[in-house]
Amino acid sequence: MLRFGTQSINEQGHLTIGGCDSVELARTFGTPLYVLDEALVRETCQDYQRAFASRYPRVEVAYAGKALLCQAVCRMVEQEGMSLDVASAGELHTALTAGFPPERIFLHGNCKRAADLETALACGVRRIVVDSLIELETLAEVAEARGQPADILIRVAPGIKTQTHTFIQTGQEDTKFGLAIASSAAMTGVKWACELSAIRLHGLHCHIGSQLFGLDSYRRAAEVIVEFMGHVRSETGVTLDELNLGGGLGIQYTHEQTPPTVDELAEVIAPSLRQECEKRQLPLPVLGLEPGRSIVGPAGTTLYTVMVVKELPGVRTYVSVDGGLSDNPRPCMYDAEYEAVIANKADRRPAMSVRISGAHCETDTLLQEATIQAAEPGDILAVFSTGAYNYSMASNYNRFCRPAMVTVYEGKAEVIVERETLEDVIRQDRAPERLRG
Ligand code: LLP
Repeated sequence: MLRFGTQSINEQGHLTIGGCDSVELARTFGTPLYVLDEALVRETCQDYQRAFASRYPRVEVAYAGKALLCQAVCRMVEQEGMSLDVASAGELHTALTAGFPPERIFLHGNCKRAADLETALACGVRRIVVDSLIELETLAEVAEARGQPADILIRVAPGIKTQTHTFIQTGQEDTKFGLAIASSAAMTGVKWACELSAIRLHGLHCHIGSQLFGLDSYRRAAEVIVEFMGHVRSETGVTLDELNLGGGLGIQYTHEQTPPTVDELAEVIAPSLRQECEKRQLPLPVLGLEPGRSIVGPAGTTLYTVMVVKELPGVRTYVSVDGGLSDNPRPCMYDAEYEAVIANKADRRPAMSVRISGAHCETDTLLQEATIQAAEPGDILAVFSTGAYNYSMASNYNRFCRPAMVTVYEGKAEVIVERETLEDVIRQDRAPERLRG
């Protein structure tokens, strides 16, 4: 069985997380249930900061909230001294209402509305990461009208194709994100930003992809962008002081995967950046990072109740659980793989090879081929590494209620997101008078 953070097995043979019996958690809070190992989230935040600060003098690590954001998670990462990357008005609102200091927030998004830019300026976010020339113009207008300069980074597309699912490759030339270095769009953006009096350009940003195992892409990104910073200096006389290399570090979903550690990532990025800057006699910029998945992914476990075990003779056995596509769309979207255990039989040997499917009205396979303990209805199935891009991508498909989320920490479990109710499901519905009766 995969084992992350505080996971263990108790005398009853039950999976425990954060000192809490997962079978008890399922009984108390119901299923499906997202369980977050708070100690592991905190530890990984510290790992990032230590790994980079010990190798590079000026570092700012921002947690990428798109992986998993709710007010409690904002509080955890804030207490750990992280900054925060938000990618929408909703994420910004979540952070601000959780009391996250705006001066540690980066606002992202390739389609920010003028109202979003206005809000970001009004609350005083640290940086707005500009994704297009159109956005740059809009932001300059908004900032001008407010009489308040906007502090920005420009997102560039370095033209680096990473090895990951095509949906989550973002640094290549053929991308909707950022301004391409190759096409001179990035240089145009920099020049405009330098000329606009309401804009204060601090540096550049790139995010080359997600669930990355190959560290060479980061080396290459540092190389390409620092080279571009050299061109910026020679063409405009401006020395940019910040370079954000985004997130992307992969995590372990299955036994076969061995992702690099945070230290290994830092060991590639820090020296590459130093070397590239030395080569071009540029001062070391502030290094920004935006890990999402690697901060929360391994810390999340989803608990389901086994509902149906269906043996198709000569074909396979289907084990269906009470969630699926609506709480974890990743297998359907990216052919993502997971591993699982029967939480109430975690001490027993795996006995069957099954397909684990969800409860939705389509083929919402959660695990194509899982080797698990003998499963019966009523068992609790724990799926590992679901902390990132599960709750944050959950939906109400089939009008399912989104699950609750609990943190487990030192033997105590607390709800951090309530389970949706049937009332919540119809809350926004309106049936006009003429349709009634
Ligand atoms: N910064 C920016 C600008 C990003 O777009 C992303 C992720 C991150 C940081 C964080 O990357 P991470 O460390 O989490 O890899 N829904 C997909 C992942 C989409 C990632 C989008 N951007 C999935 O479930 O695999």
